[in-house]
Amino acid sequence: MDFRHRIAAPASLAGVEVDALVLVVAATVDPALAVPLSSLISEAVSDGDLVLKKGKSLYVLKPAGVAAKRLVVTVAADGSAKAFKAAVATALSTVKSSGAKSVGVALGHAATLGAEHAEALVTAAADAIYLYTHSKPSAPVPWAPASITLFCQKIEAAAVQQGLRCGTAIASGVTLAREFGNRPGNQCTPTWLGQQAKKIGKEWDLDVEVMDKKQIEKLGMGSFLAVAQGSAEPPRFIVARYDGAAKSQAPVVLVGKGITFDTGGISIKPAGDMDEMKFDMGGAASVLGTLAAVAALKPKLNLVCIVPTCENMPSSRAVKPGDVVTSMSGQTIEVLNTDAEGRLILCDALTYAERFKPAVVVDVATLTGACVIALGHHHSGLFTSDDGVAAQLLAAGSAALDTCWRMPLDEEYGESLKSNFADMGNVGGRPGGAITAAMFLSRFTSKYPWAHLDVAGTAWKSGTHKGSTGRPVGLLTHFVLGYAK
Ligand code: BES
Ligand code: MN
Ligand code: ZN
Repeated sequence: MDFRHRIAAPASLAGVEVDALVLVVAATVDPALAVPLSSLISEAVSDGDLVLKKGKSLYVLKPAGVAAKRLVVTVAADGSAKAFKAAVATALSTVKSSGAKSVGVALGHAATLGAEHAEALVTAAADAIYLYTHSKPSAPVPWAPASITLFCQKIEAAAVQQGLRCGTAIASGVTLAREFGNRPGNQCTPTWLGQQAKKIGKEWDLDVEVMDKKQIEKLGMGSFLAVAQGSAEPPRFIVARYDGAAKSQAPVVLVGKGITFDTGGISIKPAGDMDEMKFDMGGAASVLGTLAAVAALKPKLNLVCIVPTCENMPSSRAVKPGDVVTSMSGQTIEVLNTDAEGRLILCDALTYAERFKPAVVVDVATLTGACVIALGHHHSGLFTSDDGVAAQLLAAGSAALDTCWRMPLDEEYGESLKSNFADMGNVGGRPGGAITAAMFLSRFTSKYPWAHLDVAGTAWKSGTHKGSTGRPVGLLTHFVLGYAK
């Protein structure tokens, strides 16, 4: 990100010279807010120009007695970081169209700014600024503010500074994940993802290994290779490490599904909206985005990011329904539906993860349409039988405003994976489809604490705002930072 974030504690908000001043108020305006801002707001309210309800805002050009060129008053539901972020996002969409170069943000209601507000501001700003332009010459020039300043009291400065730092790292990770996700499938190939991982490694001095088909064969990843075999695009297996602590400290391992395009394979998907399956590497993108964010923050911990990446295509060489493949774990799998390919590439990556003797493994995948039906687009699905890890992930999601919701994972759900011809089938029917997918993965995770995040509903948006969201980089970054010594 090329804009600067800073904090300042001005004597009077009315005196700050910025192109745009964003004032976040709530149902009650801060009695300490001085004239002319206080009188401007109370007059706007009594005249009916501003309603003190969440989502409402007021835009004033060259307000009298105010040094800022523009003022946007935006109403938050309450003092929470979540409400603050929503209010700031509303205001920034207005500020953005003015092209303001310098932006100031301040609280105009009696609440205390904390690290979480500062982080929310940075991530909201990055979201407002990001625009996909790579393959779109007709795209407008993105908004490029030079500075965004958070005005706060001196006592809040340390926490706010910390929040800005963390938010800046997360925002760059989110931006990276969004860009990867938005790139079309003919550009964002497994080979390209491998190159990008190397690039991240160079930038942050990380150890990044990108394995090719021969090396993957040597590892015995029969399940991963079965998915890859239908495509002319060669697969890659990416292993990237951030070493911030002693070698003796067990690493956190993140595994991301990297299907760069999911046609469904021989069990082919319907044509409508199939383009959206370019987002099927969203798990991989978020894992690499998290790696970049963590590397920027330099915490004392070890992190390993694993990305199996390939295309899922139909062809004369493609894996067929009924084929039996042998996973790296030795367990055999009857491929009953070639469209349930995510779990087939992840299971081998989960077995590979054993060699790191991990403190915890979290896999992230746009795994099932069933998860979208269950949870919609707000929460990612969380599956684990480890209550401790569940609590950490839920808390990390809340802190990052990138939430997940725990789903059940009882053994009974695994019964539908029985096969007459292999140790298991790769699908268990429509009922509880997100859970049976997680059950399938759990069979490869007996050696370490493990959780699975299904981000099929949260990693990208469809419709007019079609595009990658960069989720769950925020959640993952907070989660990983929890392991810092
Ligand atoms: N990538 C899809 C899951 C998906 C669906 C992500 C919709 C985002 C939006 C996955 O590979 C898939 O096709 N899953 C199947 C599983 C089924 C065959 C058991 C699904 O959800 O239909
Ligand atoms: Mn699929
Ligand atoms: Zn898929």
